[in-house]
Amino acid sequence: MTEIRSVAVLGAGTMGCGIAQVAALGGFATHLYDLDGEVLMRARAAIERQLARGVELGKVESAAAATALGRLSLAAKIANAVAEADLVIEAVPESLAAKLALFAEVVRHAPAGAFLASNTSALSITEMAAASGRPERFAGLHFFNPAHVMRLVELVRGLETSDATVAVLRAAAERMGKEVVVVRDVPGFATSRINALVGNEAFRMLEQGVASAEEIDRAVRLGLNHPMGPFEMVDLVGLDTRLAILEHLHATLGEAFRPTNLQRQFVQAGRLGRKSGRGIYRYDEQGRRLP
Ligand SMILES: NC(=O)c1ccc[n+]([C@@H]2O[C@H](COP(=O)([O-])OP(=O)(O)OC[C@H]3O[C@@H](n4cnc5c(N)ncnc54)[C@H](O)[C@@H]3O)[C@@H](O)[C@H]2O)c1
Repeated sequence: MTEIRSVAVLGAGTMGCGIAQVAALGGFATHLYDLDGEVLMRARAAIERQLARGVELGKVESAAAATALGRLSLAAKIANAVAEADLVIEAVPESLAAKLALFAEVVRHAPAGAFLASNTSALSITEMAAASGRPERFAGLHFFNPAHVMRLVELVRGLETSDATVAVLRAAAERMGKEVVVVRDVPGFATSRINALVGNEAFRMLEQGVASAEEIDRAVRLGLNHPMGPFEMVDLVGLDTRLAILEHLHATLGEAFRPTNLQRQFVQAGRLGRKSGRGIYRYDEQGRRLP
């Protein structure tokens, strides 16, 4: 079986940072790229902080954290990020057009044998795979937020993803410390579909004045035993990312996924969640919730 040695992660936002961290910790030479240079600099600091925290909590050996940082390089150009990659993982915003444009660039610069993966939450893997011209070497690798903590990776098989690709990507995800569930390429896969529906219903309840966001979150945590409430969750996901997912699921799966006006307004107001400092709740620069 082909062995992955080098991984390129494209997009250094909420997900890309965590994916780069687990890739470096998993022993892969890791190149992280973002088209925004400032985001890239912040990403390195965020990864250093997360690794230091891992050491403090006894979850990561300090030597392993140092080695992982040594394996991580930042790339200001996509060509440099993917030039030697055996596996390219895309984590740019949830827009099919953006992802298609990115993969068109990737295939110009990456080795012909490189495997390609998208971290999309809901979009069609088969469509991206076809456009890349390497459909048998393409799959979804859907990490969860925060990617350095959450154990699951959904491995999404496009129509033409080969068995060999599934095997290689499964092994790579496992080396990153993840458990893998293989799913078929349907909108929203096995997880985003449920999560988006719950989050959308919570916004509908807020619009209807059922209770405050805090009270709905408290009810879901204490009564349904969810580790976080739906508004805490959407602040973590990013309201813009969730809205893009809902719009796609609404178009493909139907009315239940129609996004609420209230959520749209939050996005229009720039209240995107933790990453912008304010969503439903307020956060400091390190993403800690403010009273
Ligand atoms: N946020 C979540 O909870 C979550 C969970 C699982 C999967 N996802 C998926 O992961 C993907 C990324 O989501 P996110 O939440 O990290 O988004 P984000 O907005 O936090 O980060 C996206 C990053 O991509 C960069 N970017 C934009 N266009 C680019 C390009 N052409 N090339 C390189 N970088 C580019 C942006 O500067 C930004 O830093 C989406 O497809 C999303 O659906 C998100």
